[in-house]
Amino acid sequence: MSESLSIHVADHPLVAHKLTTLRDARTDSPTFRRLADELVTLLAYEATRGIRVEQVAVSTPVAPAIGVKLADPRPLVVPILRAGLGMLDGMVRLLPTAEVGFLGMIRDEETLTVSTYADRVPADLSGRQVFVLDPMLATGGTLVDAIDLLLGRGATEVTALCLLAAPEGLDRLRSAYAGRAARVTVVTAGLDERLNEKGYIVPGLGDAGDRLYGVV
Ligand code: URA
Repeated sequence: MSESLSIHVADHPLVAHKLTTLRDARTDSPTFRRLADELVTLLAYEATRGIRVEQVAVSTPVAPAIGVKLADPRPLVVPILRAGLGMLDGMVRLLPTAEVGFLGMIRDEETLTVSTYADRVPADLSGRQVFVLDPMLATGGTLVDAIDLLLGRGATEVTALCLLAAPEGLDRLRSAYAGRAARVTVVTAGLDERLNEKGYIVPGLGDAGDRLYGVV
């Protein structure tokens, strides 16, 4: 079967430094939010490497030049609520003209099954490049459901930005998209060892939503 999933683990000392502080159980929520924001901007730089652009003419103070601008249709950024919201500002800082949609998905802690409680994503995504924000790629259940929804609406390329990924989640994505025409990419700051029996990434950083916003 051909491979339709690309995986990019950011290999940069600044990424590793910020990720280490995020992992630290002593890091408080305000610091966690700030570091997650900075980390996403670094990941966004990598994740947007293939973003579509078109040529434009520009006049510098010295001479005419040829440059580029982001092509239409505009890219769409979709944070998965709740924890994906903590990645939104860092992403749109690099892509200020992107449109933003929202997907509310929740995982049952007992069964690990995922249900969708909010869908604010355009019905027609034909030809769109979509960036999904989900900090923890654990079992992959949430991400596969989100990506399937986006591809089902016509998106041609979906890139997921994750702070951390587990091998089990990447395997799930690999088998979901093997041999499919869709172009799916995962960009992550780190690839951890495994999942524990509760579906948490080990060593991970705990519950990303709780660490961003406090326990509800
Ligand atoms: N979701 C989280 O927030 N943390 C994990 O480790 C796994 C899923």
